[in-house]
Amino acid sequence: MNTQTKLTSHNRKPKILVARAIFPEALAKLKASFEVISNQADQVLTPQALQKALGEVEGALVTGSERIDAAALAHAKNLKIVANISVGYNNFDVPAITAAGIMASNTPDVLTDTTADFGFALLMATARRITESERWVRDGKWAQWSIVHNPLGMDLHHSTIGILGMGRIGQGIAKRALGFGMNVIYHNRSRLSVEDEKACGATYVSKEELLRLADHLVLVLPYTAQNHHTIGAPEIALMKPTATLINIARGGIVDDAALAQALQAGKIFAAGLDVFEGEPTVHPELLKCSNIVIAPHIGSGTEKTRRAMVDLAIENLRAALQGKRPPSLINTEVFKA
Ligand code: DGY
Repeated sequence: MNTQTKLTSHNRKPKILVARAIFPEALAKLKASFEVISNQADQVLTPQALQKALGEVEGALVTGSERIDAAALAHAKNLKIVANISVGYNNFDVPAITAAGIMASNTPDVLTDTTADFGFALLMATARRITESERWVRDGKWAQWSIVHNPLGMDLHHSTIGILGMGRIGQGIAKRALGFGMNVIYHNRSRLSVEDEKACGATYVSKEELLRLADHLVLVLPYTAQNHHTIGAPEIALMKPTATLINIARGGIVDDAALAQALQAGKIFAAGLDVFEGEPTVHPELLKCSNIVIAPHIGSGTEKTRRAMVDLAIENLRAALQGKRPPSLINTEVFKA
């Protein structure tokens, strides 16, 4: 190798993939250190396009829309890290990524409060029928103030909130509920420490008790194959007819067809949904329900938090490409110091 070639290869910028649109300043910073293949058109890449791009790069910034599995990694000979811009990583086949010797990271913590705020907003909107009321007014149905003939909701204050999934976001929701004087019960794979239960004012119950006792049931658990349809017709049948169901977790945790039937039959009072099976498609029967508040997966959607998520994903990617341990590495066994 001559000197010129050596210099060129030494100074070569690592090539990375930015699989979705990110903030222009973040992209500009990346371009200073990396050769960037970026998808600023923001159209989700086809599996073929993703596989091809992953075959060309050393690092990739991806989101929940990109499925990273053995097929996606088929040509990824130089890939060191897939950095998810998301705390949930059910789009990752972690065993396949690990088997390929590739690091996987996510973005915990930076979105906890924003997502807990949103969970509470969705709960309030659902219980107090805010979007339904707005449609009612816009449709010219508000003829006069009435004690009974306008949309009447359910109270939050001094009611029982049931939280399924008591990780960071679940605990954030519990702490907000305390401010409303709510009775907080929860169910989780593992019980919280006594200190954490105290900080959240939360009482551990079985899943069945949670379903039976909650006036408002909030789902915050991660999606796994075992959690598929955790809430379906049999679970909804245990809930109070006056209860609300809030899903800010992941599509697939709720059986959306069963939920639509239950909402239409008045088996529960209302639902607030930020995530859907097969999103961005929403089950057509859900769209027919008036007792539902729908949002387009915006739990972490404030500009400040989305910037923080992108920044943390970039930090993970940079660390991996510099031979350092990414701060939020998922498959720690892959990292070799
Ligand atoms: C997350 O971070 O998991 C959000 O739901 C965005 O996918």
